[in-house]
Amino acid sequence: MLRIRLVNAIGPSLLDGLGALLTDAVESGASVGFLAPLEHDTAMHYWAHTATSLGRDLRLWVAERGNDVLGAVQLALCERENGRHRAEVQKLFVLRSARGQGVATQLMATVESYAREHGRSLLFLDTQVGSAAEKLYAHLGWTKAGEIPRYAASPDGALHTTAYFWKDVV
Ligand SMILES: CC(C)(COP(=O)(O)OP(=O)(O)OC[C@H]1O[C@@H](n2cnc3c(N)ncnc32)[C@H](O)[C@@H]1OP(=O)(O)O)[C@@H](O)C(=O)NCCC(=O)NCCS
Repeated sequence: MLRIRLVNAIGPSLLDGLGALLTDAVESGASVGFLAPLEHDTAMHYWAHTATSLGRDLRLWVAERGNDVLGAVQLALCERENGRHRAEVQKLFVLRSARGQGVATQLMATVESYAREHGRSLLFLDTQVGSAAEKLYAHLGWTKAGEIPRYAASPDGALHTTAYFWKDVV
């Protein structure tokens, strides 16, 4: 059974699972902030750094089956006085072996419920044009605000177009 859990701290076993998840996403060619090949230390450092923001302006959910981490997603809460109603969805990944089973859909539904309950009525995110993620967000009712060419590099170093999406969750 799939379980989605809000994480407050990243212990050693979760750190391993999250490291493997990030490495798998980069190996799959997903544009998630890193170039390939992703070094183990870089992945560990990324999650250790992420852990320092949990419970402050960042939320992290993991999707687990048994002890296996199958997916994760983050929500960055805007702390500016004029932006406390909005938050940015970041770093949605699902292990290649678990894709196509609705894991991302459940993670996104969890994020939206949390945002609704915590007064974050506007969500936004960016993603690579033409990616599976872009199709997912359109499928889940997000509105595309526009595209920026050559915004980010894919893991192979090639620059690609990024799309910005938003969703009202009132
Ligand atoms: C994008 C990603 C998170 C989707 O995860 P997933 O668990 O496979 O998604 P789901 O099974 O919930 O798919 C839901 C819907 O998304 C769409 N979708 C998902 N993967 C797709 C693909 N490869 N091609 C086309 N549509 C796809 C489908 O419309 C699907 O609808 P369906 O349930 O009616 O078939 C996953 O492919 C991934 O981790 N990619 C790499 C990381 C990444 O790019 N993250 C986004 C950063 S912004």
